[in-house]
Amino acid sequence: MLASRISNIVIYVTLLCVTSSVAAGIPFPENDPTIVQTVLVPLKDFPEIPDLSTDYPEISEPSADSPEPPETIFFPGEQLFDVTDYGAVADGNTDSSSAFLSAWDAACTHAENATLYIPEGEFLLGPVTFSGPCSNGKSPNVEIRGTLMAQPELVAFPDSNWIKFKQLNGISVTGGKEEAILDARGGVEAWKQPSCSKSEKCKILVSSLRFSNVSNGNISNIALLNGKGFHVVFQDCNNINIYNVNITAPGDSPNTDGIHVSQSTEINITSSIIGVGDDCVSIGPGSVNISVFRIYCGPGHGIR
Ligand SMILES: *[C@@H]1O[C@H](CO)[C@@H](O)[C@H](O)[C@H]1NC(C)=O
Ligand SMILES: *[C@@H]1O[C@H](CO)[C@@H](O)[C@H](O)[C@H]1NC(C)=O
Ligand SMILES: *[C@@H]1O[C@H](CO)[C@@H](O)[C@H](O)[C@H]1NC(C)=O
Ligand SMILES: *[C@@H]1O[C@H](CO)[C@@H](O)[C@H](O)[C@H]1NC(C)=O
Ligand SMILES: *[C@@H]1O[C@H](CO)[C@@H](O)[C@H](O)[C@H]1NC(C)=O
Ligand SMILES: *[C@@H]1O[C@H](CO)[C@@H](O)[C@H](O)[C@H]1NC(C)=O
Repeated sequence: MLASRISNIVIYVTLLCVTSSVAAGIPFPENDPTIVQTVLVPLKDFPEIPDLSTDYPEISEPSADSPEPPETIFFPGEQLFDVTDYGAVADGNTDSSSAFLSAWDAACTHAENATLYIPEGEFLLGPVTFSGPCSNGKSPNVEIRGTLMAQPELVAFPDSNWIKFKQLNGISVTGGKEEAILDARGGVEAWKQPSCSKSEKCKILVSSLRFSNVSNGNISNIALLNGKGFHVVFQDCNNINIYNVNITAPGDSPNTDGIHVSQSTEINITSSIIGVGDDCVSIGPGSVNISVFRIYCGPGHGIR
């Protein structure tokens, strides 16, 4: 069922909270009433927003006779921390979680700018949490060129998250011009769990990509597939652009929201194609100045 199709419409969603406790940094109670104002404006009446996806420099591809990746790819002057140098294997069935974490630790403790680099190939990953704060006060950039495949079983995810970034400032997660894919493989087990309305022993929802207490950054040019639960979650985040992020799951897959925002401020969601089994974009309490532009939603339950 195509619950809604939104195309060539700009949606500007502003959530005003009846208390200003968020701005004051006080935790926002779950049951606080929230006023939601949604204004639909035809695209022509809205000021043009810059196409952020063209702001990146051209990627210099390694030439055929130099198989080594170049020292710098996207972010000149930054040292690359390649997960395969830390033991990750791009064969689709060697669990590379600990290698990814070792590469992250090295990048995060590097005194200067660093990039966590995930080359082409298929990497199998269990839950990984990339934590800050980092030594130079800024998150390493994350450049993904390959495909990340989640462990299929729910039991592997006790913390209900697959890939989590937390306590970071100044982050960039990008797939560049290559298509970077995060496949959570929800169809293997997660979607077959009993629904919580029918059973008390119902599933835990595992989020594919969670940002928790992350400020200032850009998430772009990645594709997420087949979430076990929500695909992208922003919680306690501020000032983040997310654009050209395609999210795909079957229309009948349960609880596979595209992007969920809660207790966050200044999040721009633009230029993305979201087709999932639940809400394309959902906005929870405690969120202020959340903009949703140029989103193609369908199948899905719309934006709310
Ligand atoms: C590190 O990154 C920041 C922000 O992108 C930039 O202003 C700074 O020049 C970079 N430092 C080096 C040594 O490249
Ligand atoms: C949020 O992250 C910053 C690092 O960016 C850290 O210094 C701060 O303690 C974190 N706050 C909470 C409440 O975890
Ligand atoms: C995010 O993108 C904006 C616009 O291109 C840029 O000004 C900003 O420096 C970027 N932030 C990071 C952390 O890369
Ligand atoms: C998103 O889908 C559009 C249309 O199919 C495609 O042009 C674009 O490259 C995709 N982006 C990513 C990051 O997959
Ligand atoms: C979000 O978009 C609005 C309108 O284009 C812009 O004013 C604002 O600076 C953007 N926010 C971020 C975090 O880039
Ligand atoms: C929301 O946006 C308005 C208008 O740009 C700004 O005055 C206000 O400070 C913003 N609030 C937060 C919490 O970012």
